[in-house]
Amino acid sequence: MTKLWGGRFSKQTNALVEELSNSIHFDYKLAKYDCIGSLTHIEILKKAKLLTVTEHGQLKKALKEILKTVESGKFKIDESFEDIHSYIQHLVEKKAGKAALKLHTCRSRNDQVVFDTKLYCLENILVTEKCLLAFSESLKKLGDKNKDIFIPGYTHLQHAIPVAITDYLDAYCKMAEADETKLLNAYNNITLTMGSGALAGTFINAKHYDSKKTSECDKGVEAATNSLETVSSRDFVIECLSVLSIIGMHLSRLSEDMILWASQEFDFVDIDDAFCTGSSLMPQKKNPDVFELIRGQTGRLYGNLVNVLVMMKGLPLSYNRDMQHDKEPLFDSFKIVQDALEVLTALFKNIKFKKANIQKQLDDECLYATDIADYLVQNKVAFKDAHGIVGKLVQLKLQSKTNIVDMDAKTLAEIHPLLKPNVIKKIINPETSVKAKKSIKRT
Ligand code: ARG
Repeated sequence: MTKLWGGRFSKQTNALVEELSNSIHFDYKLAKYDCIGSLTHIEILKKAKLLTVTEHGQLKKALKEILKTVESGKFKIDESFEDIHSYIQHLVEKKAGKAALKLHTCRSRNDQVVFDTKLYCLENILVTEKCLLAFSESLKKLGDKNKDIFIPGYTHLQHAIPVAITDYLDAYCKMAEADETKLLNAYNNITLTMGSGALAGTFINAKHYDSKKTSECDKGVEAATNSLETVSSRDFVIECLSVLSIIGMHLSRLSEDMILWASQEFDFVDIDDAFCTGSSLMPQKKNPDVFELIRGQTGRLYGNLVNVLVMMKGLPLSYNRDMQHDKEPLFDSFKIVQDALEVLTALFKNIKFKKANIQKQLDDECLYATDIADYLVQNKVAFKDAHGIVGKLVQLKLQSKTNIVDMDAKTLAEIHPLLKPNVIKKIINPETSVKAKKSIKRT
């Protein structure tokens, strides 16, 4: 196998160096984008009159054939090649003969790898966006099915104020919506360019690079506006990894909620058996492993982001081989997030709420303390006074071990004349509590 750069070397590469530097075992994932990049590149070469019509035709045919094999899933790599770019060059040589010797005209892998990785990101951003949409759709459906369920809302993991399960699930839908916007921003921030060469540009006129849309690549290609920046920036990778980390953080928080809710202490949800696992020792166990795995993987997502940030921070302009290490974390993070969204979408179709258990928690009258204070405020008591009055009421309840709803008119009136048994009974209700919150513009 010949190297793309063998000419000035008199010795074979040391086997250990090959092992250290080869990347084909992971960058084979760029095969499709490398073919698309080369198909775009030969259009530019033709425009610049660097290929004859025949040579262009031969290269196009060869590249299309390779692309077809990649897309059919039958593409096999030869791991003795350094990287996917060298291997595809070799395949084109086999298919197109001498014309293939012109394929790398005015091109460097430094530019090629940026182009390929950008195309990979563009495609995977859209795949991830679709997964996000399906995920929030399944949360929405679950909310719609359980419109009549209210749960205690928590702050500090302590009972706070009741909330509707639909609003709770909608909180995660809102996060998904915002993440979708972040993904689209990352998509729009990617400009596909060619013409950077190794670092300094090429002799082909910029006009030949501009707006080269091909049937394989609908985001137009432009001439780079700064070749040094193009070959040495991995901001687009870091931006994708950042958004993927944020999505992971949201999924991890949702997972943590579900792990708590599936515990015997909460016992709010029943996760379908098909989405749980057991214990090899304890026969009774049904564990929420899916959620734990997703929570755990978030560390890997952050690790991948920090990995690339640290890898980049000390690099002088322009291209440095260190950058080869951007791809494994990038591929890993996209896969983690897409897989997590897919399994959660399926899981949430089958999760059931245990209404009776939730009700037991809703019976905690302290959940309505703020509502009682709100009632006093709406009847002209200053908030600070209302806070103190309800504090006393809670204290009395705890000390006398009497439910507020069971307190007689006299006892209540001694705390404040506005507190009456019928009023209290109306206030202590989760639905009333939720409906009383009018500040939210529910969409
Ligand atoms: N595999 C390299 C990367 O991923 C691209 C090849 C550039 N190699 C070179 N010696 N300039 O960044």
